[in-house]
Amino acid sequence: MEWHEILPSTNDSLKQRAIDGAPAGTVLVARSQTRGRGRYERTFFSPDKGLYFSVLLRPNACDVTSCGQWTAMGAVAVCRAMEALGFSPKIKWVNDVYLDGKKACGILAESAFGADGRREYVVLGIGVNVVMPKGGFAPEIASSATAMYHRGGYGKVKKLLVKILDEMSSLILENDVHSLLNEYRARSFLIGREVQVVEGRCQGNATVLGISDEFGLIVDAGEKQVVLDGGEVSIKI
Ligand code: BTN
Repeated sequence: MEWHEILPSTNDSLKQRAIDGAPAGTVLVARSQTRGRGRYERTFFSPDKGLYFSVLLRPNACDVTSCGQWTAMGAVAVCRAMEALGFSPKIKWVNDVYLDGKKACGILAESAFGADGRREYVVLGIGVNVVMPKGGFAPEIASSATAMYHRGGYGKVKKLLVKILDEMSSLILENDVHSLLNEYRARSFLIGREVQVVEGRCQGNATVLGISDEFGLIVDAGEKQVVLDGGEVSIKI
């Protein structure tokens, strides 16, 4: 594990390490990022004193296969860790962890395939707003973002990181997609809510009915029921 005060993006740095042959289990941690990224290359606001880290996985004999499933595993690991610290997190499909109705954590799984079509590695990046940033969140996310600790919390980062990594390795060893799915569903923030599908095949208002066996979002979009795939849609509450 490497600990940095600042990096452009832990996912970008770890992807380069993966190409250079770094072993599975390599972890890069930063307390701030200058080019933190989320889905669709969106900026992930990564101010100082947060917890931004990426884990290198080289899955071979594992039933968890897609990036969506790795994202789900990251979300469940973060939730278990937060719960152990007394929080009540929820998962906003597909890759966000919410506290009190606001985003406190984002997850980005990225993978690369070899010429033979085999998955070479997965970089699982997790960013947690541990403390409130000095000067507040960036204006565009100020109403939708939150932090675990609104006062103090500076000493909690290492404990949180260790707990998340611990839960992640338990989930990998458990290698049980069915129970992962159940844990993911049980913490869903969206089931029963009205959402707006803002990108992808089926845009417009919809009611969330559940999470499919493939970690898709099952919605009632008026006259039809649709399963949305995390790779192609974006949801607004
Ligand atoms: C999202 O909100 O869409 C996902 C955000 C993922 C952010 C984490 S922080 C650590 C890692 N490095 C990055 O550049 N992104 C991920």
